[in-house]
Amino acid sequence: MSDKKIFLMKDKNIFLIKDKKYIIAGLVFFIALFTFPFWYNSGKAAPGPELKLTDKAKEAKECVMPTAYMRAEHMQLLDIWRQSVVRNSDNIYVNPSGKAFTMSLSNTCLDCHSNKAEFCDKCHDYASVRPYCFDCHIDKPKEIK
Ligand code: HEC
Ligand code: HEC
Ligand code: HEC
Repeated sequence: MSDKKIFLMKDKNIFLIKDKKYIIAGLVFFIALFTFPFWYNSGKAAPGPELKLTDKAKEAKECVMPTAYMRAEHMQLLDIWRQSVVRNSDNIYVNPSGKAFTMSLSNTCLDCHSNKAEFCDKCHDYASVRPYCFDCHIDKPKEIK
């Protein structure tokens, strides 16, 4: 038996025991309240955007880095690429599994993800992000060929 229970019984205070019930009821209520946004949306409304992969991407199966990393860190990766190309004129990126990529937003990322509207834009619109990169970087490398 826990110390707390002994204490409650020694005090033979029924209110304390009742209070405990209320406390638990209160806790359940507040947990429900605070997690409301999470379970309320589960299964309905506001699904993440459905991203389409190009045939080329499907064939490649993998991105430059693991998907979870790409999802969370692709902006940092692009920044590293930019620094590397512009500052160090180094344009070859070798990923941890030894695969080499030319560091280029238009010619690499958007070559494989050539469906920018259905992929990058779709997610950015969903997240309300507006990368300004495409003011300069052509988003359809196919068009310049
Ligand atoms: C004002 C125009 C401009 C904007 C805006 C811009 N860039 Fe660039 N970027 C350049 C130029 C010019 C180069 C140099 C091209 C070269 O050396 O081949 C470059 C090079 C790069 C490179 C390496 C080379 C390549 O072909 O991609 C990356 C990666 C890159 N930028 C990413 C970005 C990202 C990400 C953004 C947005 C966050 C961005 N840039 C915004 C003009 C711009
Ligand atoms: C050779 C093809 C290829 C290249 C090049 C490539 N990707 Fe990918 N990318 C993929 C594939 C395939 C997936 C999906 C992997 C999966 O389903 O797990 C993916 C996934 C992603 C995701 C995660 C999507 C999601 O489901 O959340 C992002 C973000 C992404 N890529 C951005 C980029 C950026 C930015 C670049 C350039 C730095 C790039 N990709 C270069 C093939 C490529
Ligand atoms: C799974 C969703 C998702 C996909 C797919 C995705 N992005 Fe993003 N991207 C984001 C989010 C979210 C942010 C904002 C992150 C932040 O601000 O920390 C972002 C930010 C960026 C930024 C930085 C913008 C800035 O102004 O700093 C660049 C550049 C970028 N994405 C390029 C791309 C490119 C290119 C693709 C397609 C090849 C792509 N993203 C696909 C979700 C995505």
